[in-house]
Amino acid sequence: MKLPASYYNFISYVGSAIAIISLMLILFMAILTSLMEDVSSYLGILILLILPFLLVVGLILIPIGMRLKVKKSKKEHTSLSESRFILDLNIKQHRNATFVFMLGTFLFLFFTGIGSYELYHYSESIEFCGTICHEVMKPEYVAYQNSPHAKVTCAQCHIGSGAEWFVKAKISGMYQVYSVLANKFPTPIPTPIENLRPARETCEQCHWPQKFYSNSINSEKYYLTDKENTEWEVQLIMKTGSTNDASGQENGIHWHINPNIQIDYIATDAKREMIPWVRYINKETGDTLIYNSQEEKLLEEAKDTLHVRTMDCMDCHNRPAHNYLTPATFVNNAMASGEISKELPELKLLAMELFAMSFNNTDTALLTIESNVWNFYKDNYPEIVEEKTQLIEEAIVGLQNSYSLNMFPEMKANWDAYPDHIGHMEFNGCFRCHNDQHMADNGKVISKDCNLCHSILVQGTGAEKEYASLQDTLEFKHPVDIDGVWKESNCSKCHRYLY
Ligand code: HEC
Ligand code: HEC
Ligand code: HEC
Ligand code: HEC
Ligand code: HEC
Ligand code: HEC
Repeated sequence: MKLPASYYNFISYVGSAIAIISLMLILFMAILTSLMEDVSSYLGILILLILPFLLVVGLILIPIGMRLKVKKSKKEHTSLSESRFILDLNIKQHRNATFVFMLGTFLFLFFTGIGSYELYHYSESIEFCGTICHEVMKPEYVAYQNSPHAKVTCAQCHIGSGAEWFVKAKISGMYQVYSVLANKFPTPIPTPIENLRPARETCEQCHWPQKFYSNSINSEKYYLTDKENTEWEVQLIMKTGSTNDASGQENGIHWHINPNIQIDYIATDAKREMIPWVRYINKETGDTLIYNSQEEKLLEEAKDTLHVRTMDCMDCHNRPAHNYLTPATFVNNAMASGEISKELPELKLLAMELFAMSFNNTDTALLTIESNVWNFYKDNYPEIVEEKTQLIEEAIVGLQNSYSLNMFPEMKANWDAYPDHIGHMEFNGCFRCHNDQHMADNGKVISKDCNLCHSILVQGTGAEKEYASLQDTLEFKHPVDIDGVWKESNCSKCHRYLY
């Protein structure tokens, strides 16, 4: 095989060697990955990004070497063929040089590979995602560390496996790094995330949708805003999915993820809180029903322009890793666990009023919590300040902790900015559709029946607590008398901004 005389120079040799080795590695990896079932994004990145990059570098080096050589020979007025490089492995020096060259190239590629791999690995780590731009990611990171998914890496939900999404993530990641450096990021970070990977390819890699979940008991303790912080208990049996039903997910909440069922909807706002149009398709029988909200009718022409979304896990579990609890919830939790004392009169009310204020930064909030709590008890209950100093101190620390874990004024991240779609107390959640107002042509409505999704096992306070047997349910009793308004109004109408 004859090559142009100008080819015979050191730079072009190195280029060729790099190109050939990279090409061989690409082929080798391609064969390897086609034999494996589940390709990790590690291999994907190696094949897709690093090796082709090296291949190109090698290929570019060849003409560069050739050009330089032609230039040099013109300058020195020598003929190209004269300087032809001859490699004779019988000559010891040639042999050694070849060996050193090959070893060098190999080590170079090897370490570039490892280096890129490590860099890649680091860019996927929780540490990198959660703490590098810590001011910006703090809310997500803190909430994540207290979530059921604290041991699942950010990348497992936000990127998933496969090279395609990896490349997408790195490209959008570069823009994110820029926006942090240039101080151009929005506060709060908008959700829903536009290009979030579908649940099928993330959540469902760990959670198998066909799995049945037996009914579980949700036990909640609430504290009313009266002088005694009266405790009110509710225990619900959540009908997640029926284990007894061997024929498929015919009933229960996870009926929604039955592979034969498809629910599409149109939301008229970015946060998907308003859903005037819902379509139900039974893929097995072909039955289709369209439900239109009777309260907020969607105009015919709007249907063509708005995005139709197919429901998946994230339409209910939209805060699986970053749930910013509402003040009512986190104060109730802190009281139930004893972190803050129920014995301090009016503490729940005081806390609710405090957390309804808005602060510019966490430090101001923490200082205000401290001074307001002291001032309140000094003004209204001086005897408590004397007798229960320690309880007040503990309560302040408890309220400050709860605040820091759930409210992030710097990023404007809190419960109100990120509605949680599971349930129906502060946000409409399930009641976005299940409100007895979405009607199909045949008159069927999406039900708000209090026993559709759960049954009430226990409710009430102290000695007046009511109990049902496991098969039964209690009729809901609202903790304070509101004249049965809860039957018609959505709970969120009052509860979203109760204080
Ligand atoms: C269990 C899966 C899961 C894990 C693990 C996870 N996230 Fe998320 N993340 C989500 C979902 C779901 C959303 C909300 C998407 C939506 O509403 O569009 C989200 C939203 C976000 C948002 C947008 C702002 C917000 O609060 O909604 C950021 C930023 C974010 N995650 C960063 C991270 C970081 C950093 C980590 C790791 C420390 C992480 N996530 C781990 C599932 C996850
Ligand atoms: C890498 C695996 C993995 C991925 C991906 C993942 N999860 Fe999980 N999930 C877990 C583990 C582990 C638990 C904790 C199980 C336990 O504590 O019993 C969990 C728990 C849960 C729970 C129960 C929470 C509770 O309060 O007990 C829900 C709901 C859930 N995941 C939803 C999701 C959703 C929605 C997604 C996608 C955005 C997702 N998961 C992605 C592994 C994963
Ligand atoms: C986008 C609209 C929408 C949302 C949001 C929604 N659902 Fe549904 N749901 C439906 C439709 C439509 C049906 C079918 C109604 C019918 O024709 O019976 C249904 C049926 C159900 C059923 C009855 C299943 C059976 O046994 O037949 C349960 C239980 C249920 N949903 C629970 C929930 C829960 C819990 C939430 C909130 C976490 C929720 N849904 C949110 C639209 C929705
Ligand atoms: C219609 C709304 C809805 C959809 C869609 C949905 N879930 Fe759920 N899921 C719920 C509700 C409600 C519960 C019970 C929550 C509770 O106990 O507070 C639940 C419970 C769970 C649990 C905990 C079960 C247990 O008892 O330990 C897991 C895990 C889970 N879901 C995963 C998923 C995954 C994965 C998907 C998507 C394939 C999904 N869910 C889709 C509403 C939904
Ligand atoms: C479409 C399903 C669905 C319907 C219908 C429904 N609920 Fe619920 N409800 C839920 C879910 C899901 C939760 C649990 C939320 C969570 O896991 O935090 C819940 C939680 C609750 C809670 C505990 C509140 C909390 O979040 O702390 C009460 C009380 C309650 N429901 C009462 C009712 C009453 C009263 C009705 C009838 C007007 C009703 N529900 C109808 C799905 C439903
Ligand atoms: C007309 C307004 C209104 C409506 C509608 C309403 N509530 Fe309430 N709710 C209140 C008021 C006021 C309180 C007392 C608040 C307090 O003392 O902290 C309360 C307290 C509660 C509490 C105790 C809360 C806590 O954290 O202390 C629960 C649980 C509750 N409501 C459930 C519901 C449910 C479930 C619905 C819907 C089915 C609903 N409410 C609808 C006004 C309303």
